[in-house]
Amino acid sequence: MNSDLHRGPWSPDSWQSFPVLQEIPWGTENVAALAAAKDKLRRMPPLVTSWEIEALRLELAEAQEGKRFVLQGGDCAETFDRCTSNDIAAKLKVLLQASLVFVHEGRRPVVRIGRFGGQYGKPRSAPTETIDGVELPSYFGDLVNAAPFEAGARRPDPSRLLDGYAHAAATLNFVRSLGTRGFSDLAEPSQSDLSFLSHAALSPELRAEYTRIAHGLRDAVRFVETLGERPLSDLFRTDIFASHEGLVLDWEAAQTRTVPRRDGYYNLSTHLPWIGERTRKLGYAHVEFFRGIRNPVGVKIGPTTTPGELLDLLDVLDPENLPGKIVLITRFGAGRAPEVLPPLIAAIQATKRRVLWIADPMHGNGEKLASGQKTRRFDRIVTELDEVVATHRRCNSIFGGVHLELTGEDVTECLGAGVEEEDLARNFESACDPRLNYRQALEIAFRLARLVK
Ligand code: PEP
Ligand code: CO
Repeated sequence: MNSDLHRGPWSPDSWQSFPVLQEIPWGTENVAALAAAKDKLRRMPPLVTSWEIEALRLELAEAQEGKRFVLQGGDCAETFDRCTSNDIAAKLKVLLQASLVFVHEGRRPVVRIGRFGGQYGKPRSAPTETIDGVELPSYFGDLVNAAPFEAGARRPDPSRLLDGYAHAAATLNFVRSLGTRGFSDLAEPSQSDLSFLSHAALSPELRAEYTRIAHGLRDAVRFVETLGERPLSDLFRTDIFASHEGLVLDWEAAQTRTVPRRDGYYNLSTHLPWIGERTRKLGYAHVEFFRGIRNPVGVKIGPTTTPGELLDLLDVLDPENLPGKIVLITRFGAGRAPEVLPPLIAAIQATKRRVLWIADPMHGNGEKLASGQKTRRFDRIVTELDEVVATHRRCNSIFGGVHLELTGEDVTECLGAGVEEEDLARNFESACDPRLNYRQALEIAFRLARLVK
């Protein structure tokens, strides 16, 4: 069986004797520079700590039992250039406001997890890109090379591993500082821009329902504040965790260590690393690396995943069936969940596996318009969410959260909910996949809160 391939002794570098999917073409000329960058990374202080990681695992364990809801979101690809106070604060604002909506409607605490502080590595559909007869390496994210289609920019540069560390550290530092003081302002419902309530595509029923939710939330916050004893800032002193796709294993492994008084190895680059749909294959390097770390682990699950493949994968990644360890992030595409999800749920139920099911309604719904413009349709995103929630309900399984690509800015990347086709060119800023803008993200939050109520 393929899972037998992962039975040897594990170390942070044992993945190197496995074939690597999405392998980074660092180049033979960079061998010494790569080794030097990794050596430096190994000596840097950790970006996150083992006790934060364990705290998240316990919260995820509660989410697996339906006692919490997970909201995971952020950019498709963070860039060094957009590591600014405005960008980060706007992302936090939309995450926090969305989570308040869930807390209020769902009556369940929310685990907030950002796609930030390390979301710098991107899997690509091809290792190279050819334009007008010129072939260059694909853009693998700022951790590897730069986006402009120029030979110099696209050359992988190991010193970016250290730049990535620095930008992740700056991001997480700012998030933590806001976490102790500034969250209340960001989350304050009066700071919510509810103009999405007036866009023409929203039905009168939904508009009325969302308005009711918004008013209920505002009243609840006023009530809490009137009590005077627990200002909103206290309620929000709860953590916000970091996550990213663990694509560039050189970066992940160099930050994976033992810590005093705990067993095993922790990937201290983030709280929740996940394996992408394109790298989660048994017998390959990413699964080998991920099986050895103590962090909770996300796994992207696409529409071709079979129950057998899923169970084999879990045997390797989580042999002890540890509470809070596994987050399955389904990304099927609209129309697929009712048929694809039930056998996967049945396999998990039959083996009494502990997993947290969360829905990524973004990555199965990418499309390219005739103009060549990449986009995602809001309606399809919503359809997939509705289907996943309904399917879990039908199969007696717990729907535990959502994974979104979003930004706090007024971008025009996803079509619908206020963005028309002619708007797309105006403000498409994503370095990779199209993200929900602030208003679209908030509308999703309202819709989902209503669904999970
Ligand atoms: C992503 O999350 O940006 C991504 C590439 O997802 P997936 O692995 O699901 O395609
Ligand atoms: Co993406």
